[in-house]
Amino acid sequence: MARKLILDCDTGTDDAVAIMLAALHPELDLVAVTTVNGNVEVQYCTDNTLRVLDHIGRSEVPVHEGLRRPLVRPDFPVPRNAAVNPNSNIHGRELPLPPATSRKQGQGAVEFLVETYRSTTEEIALVPVGPLSNIAAAIAIEPRMVDAVPEVVIMGGGNVKGNATPSAEFNIWADPEAAAAVLAAGFRRITLVPLDATHQALVSREQCRALAALGTPAGEAAAALIDRRITGYDATQPMAVRESAPVHDALCVAYLVQREVLDVHRLHVDVETAGALTVGRTVIDAYFRGGKEPNCDVALGADAAVFGDFLLRTLAR
Ligand code: RIB
Ligand code: CA
Repeated sequence: MARKLILDCDTGTDDAVAIMLAALHPELDLVAVTTVNGNVEVQYCTDNTLRVLDHIGRSEVPVHEGLRRPLVRPDFPVPRNAAVNPNSNIHGRELPLPPATSRKQGQGAVEFLVETYRSTTEEIALVPVGPLSNIAAAIAIEPRMVDAVPEVVIMGGGNVKGNATPSAEFNIWADPEAAAAVLAAGFRRITLVPLDATHQALVSREQCRALAALGTPAGEAAAALIDRRITGYDATQPMAVRESAPVHDALCVAYLVQREVLDVHRLHVDVETAGALTVGRTVIDAYFRGGKEPNCDVALGADAAVFGDFLLRTLAR
């Protein structure tokens, strides 16, 4: 029986690879994609999501557009200044895919999430790979939702690494109040996949060539998308990792199918929501100094070979 999931995305390049993996893997059943402001303004996230699903022939997967700004921060939608939004050259406003022919659903993302988890009798995993604005809004409207969600796998945060600032990762930094609310909500099972793990599962240009050689729409698209990421990262990353890039969001989908792809530890995580230097930081109590009960599984490592093989096998479809 395929595992059902909902992806919540701010569809940029790595979200797009995650969507393709979730839509194509035989052990997964992508129930829907919800979109949120993040890498780019939400309407472009929605359009990019529709482009991806159309491109791989999965236009029947419903797309619900969500919040266009964070719960509290006043300085979003995504800041246009590339210096503030380092992701801007890794994603671009429109993905390099043919224009969408399908259309988003009339129902908004938050309403969809609330209604789905109020009514479902099935186990539907929730995989947010953008800012957590939609998820926080949904649980504010329907707190009992946390009991209906069997598992949440979040791409976000950083223990040693930051990317939006020296101390914070973009998804958490873009809506820190939402992230704090989600981590404190009492979900049955949360796995946090931070930069410390995603940067251990880099994908190379050579692997992009292998993906393109698959000759499938998904393989060719993933090759182009990851190639764009590598070019963006190479502008600033050290020589040791040049010609490769993390594909953060896709690693969360791989984890749903192959748990061995991540090295997870049960830890307590808080989110800093104040402080000019540290706002958006995930404070990961890796050495049990805080005296608080662990509230999630945190991936501190990843297996690049398992991840690379998962990409090739899944995108060959
Ligand atoms: O920091 C990486 C995360 O921010 C990824 O989810 C990427 O898509 C952006 O949303
Ligand atoms: Ca994302």
